[in-house]
Amino acid sequence: MTDRYTGQTVLLTGGAQGLGRAMVHRFAAEGASVHFADLNADAAAETLAGLPGDGHAFHQVDVTDQAAAAAWIDGVAASAGRIDVLVNNAGIIRDNRIENITAQDWDAVIAVSLNGAFYCTQAAFAHMREQQYGRVLSFSSMSWRGNFGQANYVAAKAGVVGFTRGFALEGARHGVTANAIAPGLIDTPMLASMNGPARDKLIGKVPMRHTGHPDDIAAAATFLCSPEARYITGVVLDVDGGIGIGSSIR
Ligand SMILES: NC(=O)c1ccc[n+]([C@@H]2O[C@H](COP(=O)([O-])OP(=O)(O)OC[C@H]3O[C@@H](n4cnc5c(N)ncnc54)[C@H](O)[C@@H]3O)[C@@H](O)[C@H]2O)c1
Repeated sequence: MTDRYTGQTVLLTGGAQGLGRAMVHRFAAEGASVHFADLNADAAAETLAGLPGDGHAFHQVDVTDQAAAAAWIDGVAASAGRIDVLVNNAGIIRDNRIENITAQDWDAVIAVSLNGAFYCTQAAFAHMREQQYGRVLSFSSMSWRGNFGQANYVAAKAGVVGFTRGFALEGARHGVTANAIAPGLIDTPMLASMNGPARDKLIGKVPMRHTGHPDDIAAAATFLCSPEARYITGVVLDVDGGIGIGSSIR
């Protein structure tokens, strides 16, 4: 592990489990003070347990609540003095064929992944622009190119790509980069909650022939959010064992 995040304040949404938990641990191991938001306090306590270093905190915040998200971010900026990194990781799935997607399930999926990323980024950017430094990383998905039975999630995750690219242009002149990660099939509670046969069919299409580990995502995230990634902005990095390349014949 490096110490490239020493002295840095990292904010991350959805840190109570899955990819978020792995990233919280990796950023902390590399020296950052990590503040993470989530709804699930019990799982968050498990994330906090055994976290290396100090200055870490869990905040029970719903990222779909713009005022709550802004209050969280402004509060951390006031106490820590700066915000170096924002990771928009929180996301949910409500998979269904189009005829069965309810308006509530449509709104919920867009609200967490896309609106949440917008609310948090807007609040964090105010501080990053002032300090002329920042890294914003948002979570898309391999699904952003299209996936059967996930039109709501596809729309949200394609929206994250568009948002990232648009915002990257505005952040660039202020030393603020904006990138996205598009994970493939990574072993987390979210993957476990997917429809079993659909999940197994998808795993069968991964060129590397296995699912990814949350640490694979944490390694990519800590690179993209580091000072050394200063000339990389507006990109969508596939971390997916090759499934995003296209057809894979065995
Ligand atoms: N696991 C995968 O294979 C995979 C693949 C592609 C993309 N992704 C994306 O990566 C991100 C993380 O996925 P994961 O697999 O770790 O999911 P997960 O369901 O295991 O964890 C998501 C976390 O977000 C939190 N969360 C949900 N709604 C929230 C809200 N309104 N406010 C605050 N926190 C909220 C949950 O409580 C949970 O702790 C998501 O954006 C997901 O869409 C995951």
